[in-house]
Amino acid sequence: MEIREYTEDDRDTVVRMRKLAFASTGEPPEKLLTPGTFGVLAHEGGHALGSLLINDFAQHFGGRPVPMGGIGGVVVDPHARGRGVASALVDTALRRMREQGQALSVLYPTVPALYRGRGWERAGVLERMTFPMDRLLMSPKATHRLATRRATKADLPDIHAAYLALAATVDGLLDRHEPTFQPEKLLDLDVATVVHDADGVLRGYLTADRLKEGLKVHDLVGADLDAQLTLLAELTSWAGVLDKVDLRVLDPAFTGLLTSQAVRFDMSTNQWLLRVVDLPAAVAARGWPNAAGLKGGAVDLDVVDEHAPWHAGRHRLVVDDGEVWLEPGGSGTVTLQARALGPWFTGVQSTHALRRAGLLTGDAPLLDQLVAAPGTPRLADFF
Ligand SMILES: CC(C)(COP(=O)(O)OP(=O)(O)OC[C@H]1O[C@@H](n2cnc3c(N)ncnc32)[C@H](O)[C@@H]1OP(=O)(O)O)[C@@H](O)C(=O)NCCC(=O)NCCS
Repeated sequence: MEIREYTEDDRDTVVRMRKLAFASTGEPPEKLLTPGTFGVLAHEGGHALGSLLINDFAQHFGGRPVPMGGIGGVVVDPHARGRGVASALVDTALRRMREQGQALSVLYPTVPALYRGRGWERAGVLERMTFPMDRLLMSPKATHRLATRRATKADLPDIHAAYLALAATVDGLLDRHEPTFQPEKLLDLDVATVVHDADGVLRGYLTADRLKEGLKVHDLVGADLDAQLTLLAELTSWAGVLDKVDLRVLDPAFTGLLTSQAVRFDMSTNQWLLRVVDLPAAVAARGWPNAAGLKGGAVDLDVVDEHAPWHAGRHRLVVDDGEVWLEPGGSGTVTLQARALGPWFTGVQSTHALRRAGLLTGDAPLLDQLVAAPGTPRLADFF
């Protein structure tokens, strides 16, 4: 078996394999290669066996975007399954992401065992909530309703800035940089509302599509309470024709602190797995807001990671004067398995939980203090 980068000439083969695996309906994409993506194909004697793609993303942690390879479209043709093709593709992707400077990798798993065996672990969620309209109507009303209008091309930079201001405060959210993301696509959506103040300064936006089954809200971003409640009022304006709204949870302030859900409500959750591809690079790239409040200190780590030998072994994690970095060496008193790195780095699991799962040995309260998370990491984009 050989693995190579796929090209536009492989379009029909890759599209056929994906269609078979995921029963995808709808028009096949015009182009296989889109900006910001890189694909690999496994083949034998000229016959394709499987493929995957890596999206060039960056994901916020501690207020800073960390380069991340988002793996998607992992497929192996049925006749070639069960003999290590997916494993070989994933190993190739891991090396490639390291070369591309992607310190993290995330994927939505259909088969967690495949990825767990290679160091990915649960680290966050993508959630959608179904709001019955009567519940939305029970939520607070805007006392200072701001002006709203349909977004135009000229608004796109401000819309992205509003999104980024939020994303920098919610661990896990992407920075949605170009060319992987194309901002002008927002203008094709059924609903693209901006909310602005009397001076025309953008304070938030709402994007959604009107489907047969209801309103599917993509982003609801408000910089402050008035902006959020103004956009909430726009959602309730659908009360005459719709009895529910399907909302993607982007800002935990909106769904956690403003709206009035019932005791029971419908929520769909996609879990995602994260792998630290390159620990020193990941430590250098993320923000460490908690470090400012710490006296300083160090933890001696021993990383066990057979699939990413470049960062396996001993490192000293140093905290000093608000900065955090990794140096080679140290006594290796805390042992971390590859699968422990993601849950620790994202703050989604404590060292106690990692120890109970057999992924960490040793005692290191500093590791917990550093990443004490302001909530469950989340993504708002599926790939
Ligand atoms: C999932 C899929 C990619 C696996 O490909 P594959 O080449 O058969 O996988 P491998 O032979 O490399 O198996 C790697 C590991 O995953 C496990 N695994 C593979 N498929 C599995 C499945 N369907 N259920 C549970 N475990 C599975 C294997 O047991 C193996 O574990 P091991 O290393 O402990 O022996 C393939 O079955 C497929 O294309 N399925 C349909 C599409 C899909 O689900 N894609 C995944 C998107 S995230």
